[in-house]
Amino acid sequence: MSEPTTSGSVTITLDGTNKSSSAPLVQASVGPAVADIRKLYADLGVFTFDPGFGMTAACESKITYIDGDQGILLYRGYPIEQLAERSDFVEVCHLLLHGELPTGPELKEFQHNITTHTMVHEQIRHFFQGFRRDAHPMAILCGVVGALSAFYHDSLDINDPRQREVAAFRLIAKIPTIAAMAYKYSIGQPFVYPRNDLSYAENFLYMLNAVPAEEYKVNPILARAMDRILVLHADHEQNASTSTVRLAGSTGANPYACIAAGIAALWGPAHGGANEAVLKMLGEIGSPENIPDFISKVKDKNSHVKLMGFGHRVYKNFDPRAKIMKETCHEVLAELGIKDEPLLDMAMEMERIALSDDYFVSRKLYPNVDFYSGIILKAMGIPTHMFTVLFAVARTVGWVSQWKEMIEDPAQRIGRPRQVYTGATTRDYKDVAARG
Ligand code: SDX
Repeated sequence: MSEPTTSGSVTITLDGTNKSSSAPLVQASVGPAVADIRKLYADLGVFTFDPGFGMTAACESKITYIDGDQGILLYRGYPIEQLAERSDFVEVCHLLLHGELPTGPELKEFQHNITTHTMVHEQIRHFFQGFRRDAHPMAILCGVVGALSAFYHDSLDINDPRQREVAAFRLIAKIPTIAAMAYKYSIGQPFVYPRNDLSYAENFLYMLNAVPAEEYKVNPILARAMDRILVLHADHEQNASTSTVRLAGSTGANPYACIAAGIAALWGPAHGGANEAVLKMLGEIGSPENIPDFISKVKDKNSHVKLMGFGHRVYKNFDPRAKIMKETCHEVLAELGIKDEPLLDMAMEMERIALSDDYFVSRKLYPNVDFYSGIILKAMGIPTHMFTVLFAVARTVGWVSQWKEMIEDPAQRIGRPRQVYTGATTRDYKDVAARG
């Protein structure tokens, strides 16, 4: 990656001294410029303070751009609305990884590389025997993905571009296979091998639902909906799990370990676990007449109750993915002949009430990608505890693309945030007898 262009600067002065530090302004191609404060400590002897890194650019990236105020999401410059409508997940994988939409021959070769890596080493099946049947599939995904480095020694050298490419293919191709194995294990059904004649989304649905006892035909409408859900979740700038992958990768850890770290971070209900939490929340509310009471609880800070699927660290407008998800929700329910889905009715009523309530409007809290996704997945027969697993299946290409960009960035160094220390200053040890 070439050195970013700078023009202008921000000058920070230290009150009561004649010291100042000039931070060059690094220009973005779109969105805010950033002040490069790497000289600040040397100039003024102070660090910056930004818990949660909400105002800190941790890296330069060319992959995904989000405008939270306008509700814009671009993958390599292409609006998510156009990609969701006209592209497909494997093509988006090529776009995120390589920066461009593939030509016909490039797409064919890329698709072949993914398809021929979908099977896992046969011994990996034995890992599952070690888990309880009621283990959360995210626990299984964390463990099995992290263990992949024990099997694929030919793609661990992060400094070898070819090995990085093979690791990328393996992770993108194998994550749906492992996810489906985790699901089959939880319901006591045999694992289903992937098929090379199916698309990525069709294969995933096939491995989730087929049984050896009979022919299983994937519903093309559901496959299209699944493909779109994967596209919508594929990448999202420097979110918590992607930042985790980058931090792990900055130490030189192998790509399988880095993606396992990302899976662990995604699991949290404030992040990728929110889709599962939305369904749990709607189930607990029970019926639309209980919504006002629930909303009052959310507005009472002492309750610590959040409206799951609402709010976002960056989007202070509608999450563009939520709008597309809501449309897909209606399409899937119509295709399945589900006339009235109480959960959807409740979600739409919840959205209507929240968006007319000043608590949410004043805090710019809108539905995010997780608000409707769970309803679609439930209608497709996917159990709630698999929702975050599906998010991880989609996000693996984003994690791998961001990891690859970081490794190939000549400016990248090991990540090592600092702190403001407010603990005890130096004091001498006392024997227990002298401690009173
Ligand atoms: C994802 O970062 C990404 O890009 C993530 C993601 C991706 O693709 O990778 O988009 C995926 O993680 C989507 C978010 C899924 N999480 C949820 O739906 C869980 C519910 N949402 C909240 O936990 C919360 O909105 C967060 C965690 C998403 C954001 O937290 P912030 O940054 O602290 O929210 P904020 O600063 O905008 O909050 C402003 C105010 C605060 O109240 P005050 O202190 O000002 O009184 O709004 C309140 C917050 O307490 N608030 C909520 C709320 N979210 C924020 N109040 C009730 N319900 C909520 N959901």
